[in-house]
Amino acid sequence: MRVGILTGGGDCPGLNAVIRAVVRKGIQDGHSFVGLANGWAGAMDGTHAVALDHASTSGILHRGGTILGTSRTNPFKSDGGADRVKATLEEQGIEALIPIGGEDTLGVAKRLWEEHRVPVVGVPKTIDNDLGSTDFTFGFQTAVQIATDAIDRLHTTAESHNRVMVVEVMGRHAGWIAVYSGMAGGADAVLVPERPFDVEEVCDSLRRRHESGRTFSIVVVAEGAVRAGADGPSAGEGAVDQFGHARLGGIGVDLEHEIEERTGFESRVTILGHVQRGGTPTAYDRVLATRFGVAAIDAVSDGSFGTMVALQATAIRQVGLEEALREPKLLDPALYETAEVFFG
Ligand code: F6P
Repeated sequence: MRVGILTGGGDCPGLNAVIRAVVRKGIQDGHSFVGLANGWAGAMDGTHAVALDHASTSGILHRGGTILGTSRTNPFKSDGGADRVKATLEEQGIEALIPIGGEDTLGVAKRLWEEHRVPVVGVPKTIDNDLGSTDFTFGFQTAVQIATDAIDRLHTTAESHNRVMVVEVMGRHAGWIAVYSGMAGGADAVLVPERPFDVEEVCDSLRRRHESGRTFSIVVVAEGAVRAGADGPSAGEGAVDQFGHARLGGIGVDLEHEIEERTGFESRVTILGHVQRGGTPTAYDRVLATRFGVAAIDAVSDGSFGTMVALQATAIRQVGLEEALREPKLLDPALYETAEVFFG
């Protein structure tokens, strides 16, 4: 078969490892490949499509980003967008499509399958780790490692200056990065979207900690953390994207000021932002991405369309896109409770 590949949504360490794995296994099975540029944008306009073969996918296993480019384009927001995708697939002779993406990119894939019978097999990607039906998405572990390294570094400067360090990490709907990096980095408070927080309670716990002799604290906050009683996270500047998401970021700045004003403890904020998505994937993410890529082309060979590959316990399985996208995967409350043991 001639198989199309695209990467959509925010980039993520391990995308290139998936592309390499799909192509390398697929060539062995007799398939050929076309890469569509810039996510669904390239699938709609057909420009910059590139042949993918052994040579063009060599040397990319360890490279961050995506050799195909990405975008947050939603074909269902453009007139005739789905028909344009179908026209591109026909022009390129593409008989099956592997979209690599998160809830938005795979949501488009699901509709293309259900409403237009476009044969798709999805690969789950997001540093946020909030996709259903898969225990982990590749990229998450790398983001956690980057955030943990940053917290370790902030620890020593916090201690030297007797400061409260607020560290803002990504996590739009779910606090996975915040809790994992907070636990690994020994954070004294972790604020996540799943648990609305009261700033005075956070300050109380910092006061108790400082009264017991500690002179510094680390507060990790997910960008999507919500204040008790608020409708949602405080969005930053800018319009919503084509999937209706506001641009987040900046809650850490407000917290820095509020904590300093309320407690009198000198505070500083560090927003890790896109550093968490950049650079080399960890070994774990390279292996997971490779396993997903091989499983995705195997699913194409089997004709298992309308599915997504997923990690369940230690096995890679196929799950229906409908099931995978039904609910986001929010934090396991038991994990948060374990993190809480070390707060304050
Ligand atoms: O992919 C999800 C995510 O990492 C979110 O945590 C974050 O809100 C978003 O991407 C930011 O993406 P960008 O600024 O690249 O649009």
